[in-house]
Amino acid sequence: MSSPTGLPAWKALTEHKEEMSNVKMATLFDEDSNRAEKLTVSAAGWTLDYSKNRANEKTLSLLNQLLTEVGMHDAIKGMFNGDKINNTENRSVLHTALRASHAQESLMVDDTNVLAEVRSTLKQMEKFVWQLQTGQWRGYSNLPITDVVSIGIGGSYLGPKVVAEALTPYKQSSIDVHFVANIDGSDITEKLRYLDPETTVFIISSKSFGTLETLYNANAARDWFLRNGGPEELVHKHFAAVSSNVEKAVQFGIAEENIFPMWDWVGGRYSLWSAIGLPIAVAIGMENFNAVLDGAYQMDTHFKTAPLEENLPVIMGALGVWYSSFHNAQSHALIPYDHYLRALPAHIQQLDMESNGKANLVDGKAVETDTGPIIWGGAGTNGQHAYHQLLHQGTRLVPVDFIAPLKSHNPVADHHAQLFANCLSQAQALMVGKTLEQAEKELRDAGASEAEIAAVAPHKVIKGNRPSNTLLTEKMTPSTVGALIALYEHRTFVQGTIWGINSFDQWGVELGKVLGTDIYDRLTSDSDNSKLDASTQALINAFKAAQN
Ligand code: F6P
Repeated sequence: MSSPTGLPAWKALTEHKEEMSNVKMATLFDEDSNRAEKLTVSAAGWTLDYSKNRANEKTLSLLNQLLTEVGMHDAIKGMFNGDKINNTENRSVLHTALRASHAQESLMVDDTNVLAEVRSTLKQMEKFVWQLQTGQWRGYSNLPITDVVSIGIGGSYLGPKVVAEALTPYKQSSIDVHFVANIDGSDITEKLRYLDPETTVFIISSKSFGTLETLYNANAARDWFLRNGGPEELVHKHFAAVSSNVEKAVQFGIAEENIFPMWDWVGGRYSLWSAIGLPIAVAIGMENFNAVLDGAYQMDTHFKTAPLEENLPVIMGALGVWYSSFHNAQSHALIPYDHYLRALPAHIQQLDMESNGKANLVDGKAVETDTGPIIWGGAGTNGQHAYHQLLHQGTRLVPVDFIAPLKSHNPVADHHAQLFANCLSQAQALMVGKTLEQAEKELRDAGASEAEIAAVAPHKVIKGNRPSNTLLTEKMTPSTVGALIALYEHRTFVQGTIWGINSFDQWGVELGKVLGTDIYDRLTSDSDNSKLDASTQALINAFKAAQN
């Protein structure tokens, strides 16, 4: 794959961006009474309204041309078929296989039917969850389990945590699920403070079983267990692992039958659908976990089969490139108007930024355009009293995805109508803005003097014409939450494909890990630091002085 910047559609879009610079979205609505209807598509329980974008028919047709010129159809097919599209690691990328095992008999990767492995792992998960939920699984003193602590970081943490939290209303068992990720000792200390080692099971989730934070926390958990009366020979009753490195998990002391497999064809940030999702299954039950998989499968099927111009992930991905590469938008906000989904931006942030934060094309050459934007956001309406000011009046263009359910799990008085009204009105306000004349009239009507109007009115002007997507679903269910996350996974892939980058490696995080080890050695020994820069030397000395 080479740079897309030389493609005819890219050049045409560059010119078209100039044509669009004076076009107002509000005018596009005035000119076409069917705009909203035309620019709304549905799939897998979600409806995307993308009519509030700086896009007219020509924009969409050029973006479509770009998708064709980059070979989007073949790229999608290649991913689903197990082609080794993660070229720097020579790996297939098959998180989609994790949700297809009920619908397809076989999918061969290097002479192995990966779907058979997926099915057998799901069975192993089912047994584990059933044993915990029915009290068949007992701790060392023969008590049933009350708490499961998942220890993992990055993709082995965010996806499971976000989905388990999103599906809180579906919590099935009396078992509470907790997550520990940070190497900061405060994380595990706070999680263990009220837990009982007799009734707690730890799941160590690490594809590599070599991640510093996870190993430290796993050791801290085992120390806590032993310190508080847990017998060494019964550690296996309190520890399970999810890993592709069985040897290291066994070395840690985990019984082989309590180790759930992972495969190199699943990237960490795409792994919640594998046994890495075990904490989700413990929290909401296996049936609901299967519904999460099914929702994702529905989105996969849509992504694979729908025409590009009716394809949710493709449309969202193409519009994302339109803003990142042609409008110089540096970030993209996700704002779920759903309390349970408040941590979604953190998961999508990892998914997208670890995938598309790249500066090299697949063939190794430097990219010639900006790639992945900064993904951020948080729950509405909270953000309206914080960062929405910048969305409305700041100097930067920030495209927004508003995400909301039509129905609430917790109908409290009129709260949901207010919540939903705020979601819609934010998208509307971003688009229409407020002119100087409107601001002046508003002040005049409120009785302000002409001097006051002159002083204040400019500050009330909101330029508007700021783009957003609105994603609606009837209710946040296991199926729709699964479909939503799959939608963002595919959107990430679409953007990476257009930019010509490999969205499935993450070499950038390695340097920090290596340097971290070096600094750790210096903090904990009497090394000669005189060759380091003066700043790092002083900071090391500050730490050392504080330990005495
Ligand atoms: O450092 C980044 C990363 O490799 C992520 O991609 C991954 O999800 C995370 O670390 C955790 O890795 P593991 O599951 O191997 O512990």
